[in-house]
This record gives sequence, C-alpha cells and structure tokens, in this order.
Amino acid sequence: MTILSNGHQWKYSEFIDNKNYSFDKNQILSSLSKKEIDDAYSSISKWEGYAPTPLISLNKLSKELSLKNIYYKDESKRFNLKSFKALGGAYAVEKVTQGNKDITVATATAGNHGRSVAWGARRLGLKCKIFISEFVSNARGQAMADLGADVIKVKGNYEKSLIECIKQSTENNWQIVQDVAWKNYMVVPKYTMAGYTVMMKEIIDQIKNEEITHIILQAGVGGMAGAMIAGIARYLDNIPVTLVVEPDSAACVMESIKTGRIEKIDIKRESLMGGMSCGEVSLVPWEILKNSVKHCISLPDDDIAKTMKLLGNSNFSEEKIIAGENSAPGVISLITSCEDQNIKENLHLDEKSNVLVIGCEGDTDKEMYKKLINQ
Ligand SMILES: Cc1ncc(COP(=O)(O)O)c(C=O)c1O
Repeated sequence: MTILSNGHQWKYSEFIDNKNYSFDKNQILSSLSKKEIDDAYSSISKWEGYAPTPLISLNKLSKELSLKNIYYKDESKRFNLKSFKALGGAYAVEKVTQGNKDITVATATAGNHGRSVAWGARRLGLKCKIFISEFVSNARGQAMADLGADVIKVKGNYEKSLIECIKQSTENNWQIVQDVAWKNYMVVPKYTMAGYTVMMKEIIDQIKNEEITHIILQAGVGGMAGAMIAGIARYLDNIPVTLVVEPDSAACVMESIKTGRIEKIDIKRESLMGGMSCGEVSLVPWEILKNSVKHCISLPDDDIAKTMKLLGNSNFSEEKIIAGENSAPGVISLITSCEDQNIKENLHLDEKSNVLVIGCEGDTDKEMYKKLINQ
C-alpha cells in the first residue's frame, strides 16, 4: 500500500457518537415529505440540460481500505454549475415565483447557492440580486455576474451579507431565496433541500442491486445532509450508517448533536472548506439531523489539497476526478476512519461495506482549485 501511508498521517480532529440516535423514517419525512421530494424530482428532471451526474467507483481506494465499494457522486458535472447546489436554489426560485416574471429574487451566499439562484433567475427571465461577503473570491462573484445577477459585496462575513440582503429586500420588495431557515422562514429553504434530494434518487437508480451500507455527508448549515437523509428515508429499504463531516473550526452540527440542541459556533478561522464554514445549523435540517445522524467527525484543513490532487490524478479511481475543497472531506473522513481501528470497528467498516461519499463540487473556484492542486 503506497498512496495512503507514504509517510503521511491522515488527520481528524474529533469523532463522536450521537447518544440520541434513532433513525425514524416517518419522523424524517414529516420534516421533508415524500410529496415534496417527488415534486422536486418531477420538475427538475424535466429541465433543459438535465442529466444525472456520474456515480464513480473509487475502486483503487476501496481496495486499499479493504472495503467492498466506494461510490463517489460527482456533482462537478451538475448543469455546468459544478455543484449540487444547482439543484436547490434554482428549484426554490421556480417554486416561489410560480411563473410571475415581475419578481426580483435576492440571496446572500458563499458562492454555490448564489450561482444556482442566479442561474434559476436567468432561466425564468427574472432579475436577481446577490449579496456576498468580503471573503467570497472575485472569481465566485464574477461567475454570478456572468449569469446576469447584480452582485453586491458587503463588508464583513456571511452573516453581515445576509443582514444586508434582508434589509434591502424588505425595502425593495424582493423575494429572498435563502438556503438557510430561521423562525418564520422555512418554506423556501425546504424547497432547496427538496431539490438536493434529486441526488439520492439518481444514486438509487445508478447503484442497481447493491445496498449502500454507509453514507458520509458534508455539512455547512446541514441542508445537504438533511436532504440526503430524507432521501434515504424516501428511497431506501435499509438504513445505512450515517456520518456527518465538518471543518473543525465550524462543527456546528457536531456541537449541537453533543448537547441535543442548536449550538452557535463563533468561527475564529475561516476553513478552506468555504461552503462548509457555517456557525449554526439551519432549523429544517436540524429537525432531521438531530436523531438520524449516527456519528459526527470534524477535520482540520491539512489533507484537503492532497486529497484533491489524489482524486485529480486518478489515484483513487480509474478516471480523473475534479474535486473542489468541499468534496475532499468525505474521502478524508473515510480514510481516517479506516486508519483508526476503534472507529473502523465502531462504524462496522469492512469488506462488505458499500460506502457513499458526496463529491459535492468541482472546480467552482478555478483559481483556488489550481492553487491547491499545485501546492
Ligand atoms: C460545495 C458545497 N458543499 C457543501 C456545502 C454545505 O451544504 P449545506 O450548507 O447545505 O450543509 C456547500 C454549501 O454552500 C457547498 O457549496
């Protein structure tokens, strides 16, 4: 074995079991219903240019880790937008505007969600306002401007950009299309999650007769993780082991699962995993995640660039995979879990395991991608 252990120690920061774990499909589907999930698939699968994204076998890695299969859902191929977020924001735009062309939509974003909203607005001929923080790269801002959105840069962090978005939207009567839920703002974020569940529908069609035994889910505010778990409840007969992975500087799901209630993190350092650098789990996903996530793991940034490179050089699979910063942690947490014998046994990772990891984005920020893989 060479690529993994070649003098390199794969790192995780913390691993926990959820003491409140109980996977109750009915309870999960009461937060995001079968109808909401089915409606999203029915709409999105009819969009022009729609095609399921590839499910790639990381056959070289599964051999090294002595697992049966590792499936990598490659969202770098999603609608030319290069991330799963394309499914959520654009679907929410369609649902909230319902054919009314006089509506201006607005959102605050770290990048990928905004790109989806801008694209969804352009599809439907709507005006679009995007608020970004000073930490969002020019390349990401430009990508949204190229889709016809007005991009407004706000001094401060993501939270400041959201406050400004709400303020200006209220003054101007714009429709906010946010992927984060708060009290009295649940319907739109639910649409975004319903959109993300399309990934799970595709996966069960692609996986054919195999059974997924483990699923590793990246979390920022938890929308994707919550949606995928709702997808499991909707589409799967079995219940895979569920693992949520977060940056150690912003492990808001992990900290909330520890106490059983939403805990807010004061982010002291922005992680390289920008889309996952979120201080508070969103309300709708929390209702799903609090019981249905079996384990949480947090990671430092150390192995991100290396993993992107290994995926890009086809060290883990037959083909080269373009994986962005937020795609790497699924693979990293699987490797670290297999290298720690206690965790490996706790997770029942063995030669019968079919593990699903989510390659949630490609080179959504081309400059950053180049910089990291050339490190
Ligand atoms: C590529 C990517 N992966 C993961 C996430 C985290 O998703 P969520 O905030 O729904 O948990 C994001 C969020 O922006 C993202 O852009």
